[in-house]
Amino acid sequence: MTRIGTSELDVRPLCLGTNTFGWTSDEAESHRVLDAFVDAGGDFLDTADVYSAWSQGGAGISETIIGNWFARSGKRDRVVLATKVGKAPGLEGLAPQTIRTAVDASLQRLQTDRVDLYWAHADDEAVPQAEVLGAFDELVTAGKVRALGASNFTGRRLQEALETSRREGLASYAALQNHYNLVERSEYESDAADVVAADGLAMVPYSALASGFLTGKYRPGQLAESQRQAGAAKYLEDERGPRVLAALDEVAAARGVDVAAVALAWLRHQPTVLAPIASARTTGQLPPLLTALELELTDEEQAALERASR
Ligand SMILES: NC(=O)c1ccc[n+]([C@@H]2O[C@H](COP(=O)([O-])OP(=O)(O)OC[C@H]3O[C@@H](n4cnc5c(N)ncnc54)[C@H](OP(=O)(O)O)[C@@H]3O)[C@@H](O)[C@H]2O)c1
Repeated sequence: MTRIGTSELDVRPLCLGTNTFGWTSDEAESHRVLDAFVDAGGDFLDTADVYSAWSQGGAGISETIIGNWFARSGKRDRVVLATKVGKAPGLEGLAPQTIRTAVDASLQRLQTDRVDLYWAHADDEAVPQAEVLGAFDELVTAGKVRALGASNFTGRRLQEALETSRREGLASYAALQNHYNLVERSEYESDAADVVAADGLAMVPYSALASGFLTGKYRPGQLAESQRQAGAAKYLEDERGPRVLAALDEVAAARGVDVAAVALAWLRHQPTVLAPIASARTTGQLPPLLTALELELTDEEQAALERASR
């Protein structure tokens, strides 16, 4: 078990992303994915009120599907549940009233009385951080939320938020959720990583499989059919993407595991990283994610991936 930064929550080191639910996975398959993930020992779920506004199900469908699963399976207390505020249609930004309205709507869809980890989905420079954190602090005091996280924050803005919490005596962000994986390294490593390390936060990187690219199913001249094809295939456009795949192929073959498991294991062992977030559209896609919960790479394997992804 691993502690989520400065919170009192413990999780296994892989978070199941759920923006697939109601988008690329129907409700029945989403429930099978949830059952398989939790029954194999997974315990950390990531959703958002906006998931998936771009799909037929619309905003809120991912939370609704998870809420129905809690009601059907009785497994609410087996997971640390994270959702987000700030990007749902009509509830954009982090104004205090938006936060208050959004959390109640999320709790209702999720059919639960608390959100374990509540993320600001994106920074909102139009609202003073003391007001944002004041609203979040009220939710913690009321027991609606157990811990807070910041997503898509720069290092400077995260630092300011942490200082604001200390100065004002308000609940503070315990974790950061930014874009970070083997083909998206420089932004996080050169900016927010120092703040996360210095303040003892946990990094929970999203798109840990680079939208599917790091499963190895996109190769030069051979693109997988997927709703995410454009987002994943772009990593073939420079030489680094294929170089990373070649390094992953080598480690995966030597260890007898899938490429995706190696990519997630690399990320899990980066300084500051607690639990990568990855999605599975089907139960068939889950095994490599579950392998990553346990897979330990050698220093040589980590170094080979580090060189290839530089
Ligand atoms: N905070 C934020 O702003 C933010 C932004 C983005 C995402 N997120 C979170 O991070 C989660 C994960 O990120 P992501 O959705 O960008 O995707 P990802 O985890 O990088 O990639 C997941 C996708 O890869 C494919 N895949 C997974 N396992 C596979 C396997 N074994 N074999 C073949 N294909 C496989 C599936 O797509 P297909 O089968 O459809 O190709 C799956 O949906 C999201 O669900 C969400 O919770 C947060």
